[in-house]
Amino acid sequence: MSIAIIDPACPALISEHPAQVPPTAAVIFGATGDLTHRKIVPAFYHLAKNGLLPDDFAIIGFARRPKSDDEFRKDLGDALRQFSHTKPVDEEVWKKLSSHIYYFQGELDDPEAYKRLAEKLKTLPESAKIGENYLFYLATSPEYFGQAAQNLAAAGLASKADGTRRRLIVEKPFGSDLKSAQELNRTLQAAFAEKDIFRIDHYLGKETVQNLIYFRFANSIYEPLWNHLYIDHVQITVAEQVGVESRGGYYEHAGAARDMLQNHLFQLFTLTAMEAPASLDAESIRDEKVKVLRSIPTPSLSFLQKNVVRAQYGGGYINNKPIPSYRQEEKVAHDSLTETFVAARFEIDNWRWHGVPFYLRTGKALATQFTEINIVFKRPPSVLFAASSEDRLRRNTLRIRIQPNEGISIKFNAKVPGKAESEAVDMAFLYRSGFDHYLPEAYERLIVDALIGESTLFTRSDEVEQAWRLVDSIKSAWAQQGARDLPLYACGSMGPVESDQLLEKDGRFWIRPKEMAS
Ligand code: BG6
Repeated sequence: MSIAIIDPACPALISEHPAQVPPTAAVIFGATGDLTHRKIVPAFYHLAKNGLLPDDFAIIGFARRPKSDDEFRKDLGDALRQFSHTKPVDEEVWKKLSSHIYYFQGELDDPEAYKRLAEKLKTLPESAKIGENYLFYLATSPEYFGQAAQNLAAAGLASKADGTRRRLIVEKPFGSDLKSAQELNRTLQAAFAEKDIFRIDHYLGKETVQNLIYFRFANSIYEPLWNHLYIDHVQITVAEQVGVESRGGYYEHAGAARDMLQNHLFQLFTLTAMEAPASLDAESIRDEKVKVLRSIPTPSLSFLQKNVVRAQYGGGYINNKPIPSYRQEEKVAHDSLTETFVAARFEIDNWRWHGVPFYLRTGKALATQFTEINIVFKRPPSVLFAASSEDRLRRNTLRIRIQPNEGISIKFNAKVPGKAESEAVDMAFLYRSGFDHYLPEAYERLIVDALIGESTLFTRSDEVEQAWRLVDSIKSAWAQQGARDLPLYACGSMGPVESDQLLEKDGRFWIRPKEMAS
């Protein structure tokens, strides 16, 4: 993970990749979809702008509707101008990149379409230089993932032992439970080598999430304290202000546990809790992450009843805007039992974490949007200051703000000037003021990693399966309970009172988000 400045004329342009992206044809399945417009194409554009794509590069959009190359390029250009996280769009860069973009009409379940695709890939203007290096990006609805991989293999486009690079990016959700994830793993692995399968969890592409490894293991002051001797508990929150909006159709079958807990929260959880890896290579890091999940016994029904809370948003207001209740959202059943909030208490049964609870929560339509990890240390002995403190001393807390206002702060007790009293104060680092660097979007980093075959920031098959093992046990407990224990919470709150009680019964409370000042 070395860092090199690519374009000294623009300090914002950084690459962490000593390896060059090889000439490649990237095929996006689901090329007219939302993800392509909002994330994938803007990511390719920023890679091009930052000099990270080779000249011999082509993007082929595979989708059902008839469209010419020019129409497709225009649609993507419009989307780019709307969704690019840097503005204005550099039209010169886009013009050059879009001249290497092509449209291919085909049905995902039609094996013949993939054979035609194989022919097309050989006859692009860039084909001579690209050879047979392909990146297939499955940005489709998940029911097509397995079929697309099989069809690619049948058309001779999957992994080959001849040195050509054939890689497959698979979007989330990866299965809907352990069984379907195992099946999907088997299908994909029959077509592509595991090293060529890149399962996306876009949280791993976030700089602040990658920084967890640097923060923990590139410093000597935290790791000695990073265990049950000093840490009281850990809180991980991914709070969203938006409701499900137009995604009701998908969300009804997912819910917060499948949509967020199984992937994004567990990624934050395992990176926080894992042991130091033997090296920074993909397998060493992923080995340690999966060990964390393996060290959590499958929760029993009675454990889940006490330690997991679910809830659904009722109506309410956020920023003075009325928000419908979840059951009034488009494509949501009027008696839906889908949870839009989940809070859970996990314990890792290993030597480092014995007896330390990890409280995880996530929800939609909450009061504020933030992702944070709070490491709460044990309370210091208060006897020296008992006379001057009404209460006991405050616990030291390390706040890792993943987004927005990315940063890290430590809360510690200090003497109030002029008084024999202590007060908790903050020492803070903010990315915005600490670094004068371009913060790439998660998809930029992930796409370039897949292009060079670097798997660290992608989820391995056993990791996905371990995460499903835990989520399946939660989902099946809920299924047995039916409508019981599905409280409603008001939009614009921080979830149901049961979530607060989850910590209160342990003598703890959720740490409130603090606006990290600039
Ligand atoms: C996606 C979920 O994976 O992550 C969405 O499907 C969620 O429901 C999104 O809104 C959150 O991502 P971010 O990067 O905005 O925190």
